[in-house]
Amino acid sequence: MKALVLSGGSGTRLRPFSYSMPKQLMPIANRPVLEHVLENIRALGVSEVAVVVGDGGPQIRAALGDGARLGLRITYIRQEQPLGLAHCVKLARDYLGDDDFVMYLGDNMLPQGVTDIAEDFRTLRPCAQVVVHKVADPRAFGVAEVAADGRVTRLVEKPEQPRSDLALTGVYFFTPAIHEAIDSITPSARGELEITDAIQWLVSSGATVAAREYTGYWKDTGRVEDVLDCNRELLDGVSRSVGGHVDAESLLIGPVVVEPGAGIVRSRIVGPAIVGAGSLVIDSQVGPYTSIGRDCRIKDSGLDRSIVLDGASVSRVPALRGSLIGRSAAVTSADAGGAHHRLVVGDHTRVEVAA
Ligand code: DAU
Repeated sequence: MKALVLSGGSGTRLRPFSYSMPKQLMPIANRPVLEHVLENIRALGVSEVAVVVGDGGPQIRAALGDGARLGLRITYIRQEQPLGLAHCVKLARDYLGDDDFVMYLGDNMLPQGVTDIAEDFRTLRPCAQVVVHKVADPRAFGVAEVAADGRVTRLVEKPEQPRSDLALTGVYFFTPAIHEAIDSITPSARGELEITDAIQWLVSSGATVAAREYTGYWKDTGRVEDVLDCNRELLDGVSRSVGGHVDAESLLIGPVVVEPGAGIVRSRIVGPAIVGAGSLVIDSQVGPYTSIGRDCRIKDSGLDRSIVLDGASVSRVPALRGSLIGRSAAVTSADAGGAHHRLVVGDHTRVEVAA
């Protein structure tokens, strides 16, 4: 089995970050979403992976390289325009050949993994197998209607009136039968070749399409709230590890990761939290549920339930909460105070708050 990871697209819901970085590189617990995705793929025993990239291609290549670090052989396929998930499969046609493959959306987080679900696909080998997850409001997703025996009877992309609560997650298992289906469909009203339509084509032509339910934590990290939520979820799984320097006047409470080369000075870090390599926390309170990237500076500040991306600085801001601070952004305040501020700050942005 091969893997096809989709990492193109425009990421409009993750602006302003997606202006300067592909959303699939957003760090969750200090590792890009794409790395979590590729780790799950590796866990399926798959090592041949094609990654479809758009304008963010160079940054994605720089982050993943040839995949050797992750035990994978990565091939990159360029998609000039985000013309749909099924369009990506078309572009990968030669790469995929007549192999079965898992298609994995590069912004989807399924931390409990899909190894059992992949095993079912390998054993039963339906024409296609989708992975579904029960959600309260499935209108933002593809929605599957599934019979008692696990066969999909109908699939609709983002229906206004969903007929089931089973959302399609971003993981699909395909036999080569999907290629004929994709060749048979036309672009949707939003101008994209929808994979949902291609799978529905298989259903309509009598092919077996199976659904398997993933019951773990699932997030499509398309929006800032989702990224923060997912970060909290993953941080819940970290254990204490201190590779950097913590001075005698600092206090680490609970599961705190201080990466090698990081420094904690006269500060209090409340886990779960991570302070990335090369970062310095001085006279501050960090956490819980906070990830500080690499080479950041946190000084005279307090922040919790937040993510700070590489190279950013926060100085003299006493109460940041639920914030996502972009790469090399600087957040500072003119005077001291007590109110909470909630900021979503893009890469290379500078914000001054009256605190
Ligand atoms: O997250 C699950 C949902 O993903 C499913 O429930 C939907 O059925 C499915 O269509 C998809 O919906 P989204 O609207 O969330 O898809 P999005 O445009 O965010 O694209 C998903 C990933 O695929 C993302 O990493 C970007 C990449 N992509 C997307 C398009 C349209 C490409 O690489 N090329 C593309 O042309």
